Amino acid sequence: MALRQCLDDVEASARQILPPFAIRYFSCGSDGEQTLADNINAFRRIRLRPRLMRDVSKRDTSTTILGQKVSFPIAISPTALHQWAHPDGEHATAKAAESMGTGMVLSMYSGSSLEEIADCAPSGLRWLHMDLLSNTDVMKYIINRAENKGYTGIFVTLDRPVASKKRAPNIVTKAYGRFPVSFGHFQGTDTPYKSSDKYTEHSDGINTWETIDWLQSITRLPIVAKGILTAEDAREAVKHGVSGILVSNHGGRQLDGVMATIDVLPEVAQAVKGTGVEIYLDGGVRLGTDVLKALALGAKAVFVGRPILWGLALDGECGVKRVLKILQEEFDIAMALTGCRSVEEINADLVQKGCTCVAKL
Ligand code: LAC
Repeated sequence: MALRQCLDDVEASARQILPPFAIRYFSCGSDGEQTLADNINAFRRIRLRPRLMRDVSKRDTSTTILGQKVSFPIAISPTALHQWAHPDGEHATAKAAESMGTGMVLSMYSGSSLEEIADCAPSGLRWLHMDLLSNTDVMKYIINRAENKGYTGIFVTLDRPVASKKRAPNIVTKAYGRFPVSFGHFQGTDTPYKSSDKYTEHSDGINTWETIDWLQSITRLPIVAKGILTAEDAREAVKHGVSGILVSNHGGRQLDGVMATIDVLPEVAQAVKGTGVEIYLDGGVRLGTDVLKALALGAKAVFVGRPILWGLALDGECGVKRVLKILQEEFDIAMALTGCRSVEEINADLVQKGCTCVAKL
């Protein structure tokens, strides 16, 4: 087997074995795919300012997310349809996260139910992903079950009031019909949300910040607002009592032409400073130095989406573990080479000022 030393290698190998519809579905962005590319390119524009001659012989990459310990500040973003990557689907992803000491946000569009995933990785750190539906009964039903099964937070997607126009050819639409996955959390509900051939119809655009207030009223779990890209919305989210903000542009799959997540991170971090709300980022993280840059610019942790799917496609649970190990190792080396012994020592001085679009450091 070829040596897979970085996430680009893993992706290249996965593309050799996955069927075209799965590659297209996982890799596509929306419209002209400008944001999809920019998420990665923006990290490359940022330059580091290392500090030398500190004793970095002992390093600790661990941190906390919503108060719970993770071995390194890298967790798994929600992505749909893991069974299109590997027959073990979300089971493999959850087990890999558990054994690597990090957390997974389980997608609403998982082939296995939230109970099955909790049972297969019982000591794993898990959060539930929620797209906002017009059917509040279904949302409440799913959230109650998540509370009972040890999920410790709800990541709510805010940036999908309607489905975007994806530049995925018909092959993907046909695949929804030909390789439908039934969505585990919805089984037993009388809803049209049960199968992947229907899921683009989920979003009807009716939700507002009041929906977040309603969510707060029906659950004791902390809520993380996913998809925020402006200081204005960050302040709004804080007003509505969220515990965390995941700076995300949906992996370039919703509004095309928005800024790369790493470029808006300083603005969002600045807006919530002093509130205690945790900031995370996803979109374009491919290297350990990307993780370091995100932490330097205000993120408490990063989340990865597509690289997990490529690892899963290659080798199930072992493949996902491999992706997490590569990132952890690269991050650890990046810490040493910038003079950091712990994540607390990573700060804005490690990044050259003015090299992000809006760096207000
Ligand atoms: C997507 C949906 C599932 O990005 O959010 O494909």
